[in-house]
Amino acid sequence: MADKVYRASTTAPVNIAVVKYWGKRDPKLNLPTNSSLSVTLSQADLRTLTTASCSASYPSSEGDSLLLNGEQSDVAGARTQACFRELRARRRALEDADASLPKLSTMPVRLVSENNFPTAAGLASSAAGFAALVRAIANLYELPASPSELSLIARQGSGSACRSLFGGYVAWRMGDAADGSDSMADQVAEASHWPDMRALILVVSAAKKGVSSTSGMQQTVATSGLFQERIAKVVPQNMAAMEKAIAERDFASFAEVTMRDSNSFHATCADTYPPIFYMNDVSRAAIRAVEQINAAAGRTVAAYTFDAGPNAVIYYLEKDTESVVGTLYHVLGGEVGGWKSTVVQGLKPSMSLDEGVAEILKAGVSRVILTGVGEGPIKSDEYLVAEDGSPARR
Ligand code: DP6
Repeated sequence: MADKVYRASTTAPVNIAVVKYWGKRDPKLNLPTNSSLSVTLSQADLRTLTTASCSASYPSSEGDSLLLNGEQSDVAGARTQACFRELRARRRALEDADASLPKLSTMPVRLVSENNFPTAAGLASSAAGFAALVRAIANLYELPASPSELSLIARQGSGSACRSLFGGYVAWRMGDAADGSDSMADQVAEASHWPDMRALILVVSAAKKGVSSTSGMQQTVATSGLFQERIAKVVPQNMAAMEKAIAERDFASFAEVTMRDSNSFHATCADTYPPIFYMNDVSRAAIRAVEQINAAAGRTVAAYTFDAGPNAVIYYLEKDTESVVGTLYHVLGGEVGGWKSTVVQGLKPSMSLDEGVAEILKAGVSRVILTGVGEGPIKSDEYLVAEDGSPARR
């Protein structure tokens, strides 16, 4: 009889920080210089599906492998290796304690992974990718580990990935232990605590690939004076204010902290020597658009935030869909991909943006993504590895 192929599948979400992680105090263990906080986005729109499998029939010469969106991906990097090593060690401990368990820890792991969003969208998929990799292997190995324990492992793959092990509103506590054992994620609030949080992502095409976050943050830590002020004062205040805003479902405060924190992060990038610019003219036009929408509404209905690239993520509450989405839908036009008819049907523009701002957005936004707050990783019965261990045909 052929050797059994063991399989487990999971999906994992993308998260977008409202208090940003930027800076490592230990690049090897991937320990941050500050805590951060994010909103997990709905997997209906953005998710990675990963199947982890292992079998005594997989040749040991093959080693561990990852097929990502149909292409073999390199798993030799130190960060991916750290994830494999930690997960295997936990499985081995179970096998040592119970001799009846199959020795999965000795077999090569085959991973097959797919994103449900276009890679061309330029969205950071490493958070969902590493969260799915860790969760899928933990399921395969039947590890009795909590999401926080798994976040310790995912953190070593990519810092922001540790927050994708939870749904809703998630903090990554920086911790202070030298070995990183207390630098992990926890859930600040379930998605159901504040379910009407929405996100409109304006995908802005970048002319050329910018500085990666890993290298950008190292340069900032090494050269920016402003950065010291950010980690010592700005972030601790923003974390406290953000947790309070979420607990009280206070959108005006949530929005102000989100925008200030994004501005602070990009200010430290500009203060890096030589400076790093992630936002471009289109990003800045999105900031003006949000300001004009809020001014016209007479209260804060929208908040912008930007990661290490030009895309704008705009948070808003469902009840303000007309002010926020209606205005941008009429500016950008239906020919831009990504609008959902269920959301935009019948929306009227509640205001008009300044002509200059509208023109820049129209020329520079290539597609939109309409989504909202969502759940953490979900076990899936869809397998990307067939029962014989080959990649499943789809
Ligand atoms: C700007 O998690 O991609 O998105 O740990 O080096 O993999 P590495 O960095 P990464 O950095 C994300 C930076 C950010 C802010 C955030 O998500 O908190």
